[in-house]
Amino acid sequence: MQTQLFCAKTQKENGTSLGGRIIRNGGLVAFPTETVYGLGANGLDGEAVNKIFEAKGRPNDNPLILHIAKKSDVKQLWKHIPDEARRLMDAFWPGPLTIIYLKSDIVPDEVTAGLDTVAVRMPDNKTALALIRAAGVPIAAPSANLSGKPSPTTAEHVLEDMDGRIDMVLDGGPCRVGVESTVISLVGKPRILRPGGITKEMLEQVIGTVEVSAAVLNPLPEGAKAESPGMKHKHYSPDCDVLVALGEPKTAANIIIREYGIAENDGKSCIIFATEQTKGYYRGKKYVIIGDRDQPETLCANLFDALREESHGVDIIFAEGIPTDHEGLAYMNRLLRAAGFTVLDK
Ligand code: TXA
Ligand code: MG
Repeated sequence: MQTQLFCAKTQKENGTSLGGRIIRNGGLVAFPTETVYGLGANGLDGEAVNKIFEAKGRPNDNPLILHIAKKSDVKQLWKHIPDEARRLMDAFWPGPLTIIYLKSDIVPDEVTAGLDTVAVRMPDNKTALALIRAAGVPIAAPSANLSGKPSPTTAEHVLEDMDGRIDMVLDGGPCRVGVESTVISLVGKPRILRPGGITKEMLEQVIGTVEVSAAVLNPLPEGAKAESPGMKHKHYSPDCDVLVALGEPKTAANIIIREYGIAENDGKSCIIFATEQTKGYYRGKKYVIIGDRDQPETLCANLFDALREESHGVDIIFAEGIPTDHEGLAYMNRLLRAAGFTVLDK
């Protein structure tokens, strides 16, 4: 299969109308969103949806998100629209919030992995919305990476994983948020299954108390059932070890400096994910600054790109933990998963 690359801004032929046609005809198109690149197929066509699982090597018990271009499209996908969903849609759509609720009969089992609920979101990205409109159907799309790898935040990342496996990539430049959408379930009490750019604090301003699944910051206990099937699978792993140091900035930096020295003596090649606040501690060591601890959204925006780019030829990435409020929760969820929950001793 030949994968076509289309630049959403400069290409003469309108990439989104061609992409829409490919999707209607059962093909696969990767497209930019404000969070990460998605790998899209016709969300009402089970056979087309199966191709997504094949291209990604994704376990087929892991359900997909349906992407829509206008809020009212959710009506056909859910049994009905609960009041809390209405308030969240008004506050945060288009935007990085995915809402899970009871599915209607038109949603194929291939999308939901047989569950009686379906995840829906309206992305905040012009190219994504134009593609969905051109396709004329909801687009089922997971992140456009090979299963287990960090999610792609540029068209180059998508091609790294997907070249030759899909029909088309729409290039819309780097993604703004950089981590996947917040996933909230409204079946029962409102509950965050995956944190993202719409934070717990923001959600609570609109609908009151929101729970956070324990699996967000902890490994799933052996044999336990995952609330969100995605949580039990290996995630975001670059081609090297990732080790996390917790604590205040200076404490974390000291742990990293100690472990860096030990690893270097063992002949290992290491890199540190530093922050604006801690870069001064790492003089003479190999580091990249990935953002500002006081603005965790900057860390989110750069994490996946850094995991992909900095892992080449490296044995260990050392990274600092940050507080888990606001966007810090999404950052720590992704970082701890990339690390397989390996936290360094004090
Ligand atoms: O930002 C995003 O959400 C990106 C872009 C492309 O929209 N998409 C994305 O999709 O991250 P994916 O498939 O990589 O992650 C979807 C997550 C998975 O953890 C999956 O298990 C969970 O949502 N999920 C989907 N439907 C569900 C359902 N009905 N019940 C529980 N969890 C569900
Ligand atoms: Mg994914």
